[in-house]
Amino acid sequence: MVEPKAKERIPAHVAFVMDGNGRWATERGLPRTSGHREGIANVSRIAEALRAHGTRYMTIFMFSTENWKRPKDEVDAIFDLLVEWLSVTAPQLRSRGIAFRHLGRRAPLPTSLLKALDDICGQPAREDDLVLSLAINYGGRAEITDAVIKAISAASEPSAIDEDSIDLALYTAGMPDPDLLVRPGGEIRLSNYLLWQAAYAELYFSPVLWPDFDEEELARSLDAYTDRHRRFGGL
Ligand code: IPE
Ligand code: MG
Repeated sequence: MVEPKAKERIPAHVAFVMDGNGRWATERGLPRTSGHREGIANVSRIAEALRAHGTRYMTIFMFSTENWKRPKDEVDAIFDLLVEWLSVTAPQLRSRGIAFRHLGRRAPLPTSLLKALDDICGQPAREDDLVLSLAINYGGRAEITDAVIKAISAASEPSAIDEDSIDLALYTAGMPDPDLLVRPGGEIRLSNYLLWQAAYAELYFSPVLWPDFDEEELARSLDAYTDRHRRFGGL
């Protein structure tokens, strides 16, 4: 018998890696910055589509702790585009049921970007909102390291630390773990993304470059998730 696609088969939390922006631009003879602009704009499209599917949490990897190795011009351009999107587009999304959260280390992000993040993240989520977490200056190992330090300083003794206390010290505290992790752009790796939280996530890799990752490709990734039989190590 074919299992029906019940409501509970819609993932509560979908995490994305934003990848392929540069190649998308290069393929069109455009500067890489155009790809970043297009890629950042696509976050709005996918967040709204995901909210319509009934998903409650979306997380997107927008800038990693490793991305600082890129030329300064490109890094500055990405930050400028993020500030613009957070100031102009994010408030529109906020009024359409999307709340924001930042995951990552604040230093050494520029003050203008931190202010734009604080402005939009300071507006608390309502019950029906989709919570969109922006991983910016994020690294999974850095997050776990920060969490362990926090958990140790909060614990009465080291042996009191358990998985729950580390979970509560992560940037994602209080959020369910991602059920589905989607990586467009053709690379088949995690790149230090949500290392702790993705322990049981279903993984979906797509060759489509992120700026072209549309509602149809999203539906394909959700279908792949729905069709898999999740056992969590059991039978
Ligand atoms: C993702 O696209 C954006 C960031 C990492 C900031 P890329 O810039 O990695 O695009 P490609 O992989 O070079 O095509
Ligand atoms: Mg890339």
